[in-house]
Amino acid sequence: MAVLEVLRMGHPVLRQAARKVEPGEMLGAEIQGLIQNMLETMVAHGGIGIAAPQVGASLQLAIIDLKNSDPAFAKHYGAPMEVFFNPEIEVLDAAPQAYWEGCLSVPGLRGEVERPRKIRVKFYDSEAKPQELIAEDFMATVFQHEFDHLYGTLYIDRIKDTKKLSYLEEFSRYWAMGDTKEV
Ligand code: NI
Repeated sequence: MAVLEVLRMGHPVLRQAARKVEPGEMLGAEIQGLIQNMLETMVAHGGIGIAAPQVGASLQLAIIDLKNSDPAFAKHYGAPMEVFFNPEIEVLDAAPQAYWEGCLSVPGLRGEVERPRKIRVKFYDSEAKPQELIAEDFMATVFQHEFDHLYGTLYIDRIKDTKKLSYLEEFSRYWAMGDTKEV
């Protein structure tokens, strides 16, 4: 396993639409090794999620670990993380909810983004089995942020009011409503 370099805003791979992972690839050594390295990289950077394009692999693959920050997620999953291949989002409740977001690829900044509050996600799991789940509130925001990476979108693209874009130090001093994690 290895901690990989996290690509930062400006790297062209972050702006590409990633390709789907073929079901036959999902359990192969190459992808499984990538997942382990993504996990190690996410943990090393203190993130709660990471998408394959953030480590230079333009694939529709993300891992998310909310067990420590969202009781609903912890209840849903006993696993230490969840793997998402080829996720598709359907909005179930478009009512906008605002959360401050951070991103491993945009280090040191926080910005407030409004996103739909409830979604359904269809995806293939770590065993290459089709799954679906419903996410709302903070979990819905994390999933939408993470899966945006698979289409070349960063959270800063979705900030409506750039007055609510802040360096982390100023965020902590003037805006903080508790810590926020990067994904
Ligand atoms: Ni991100």
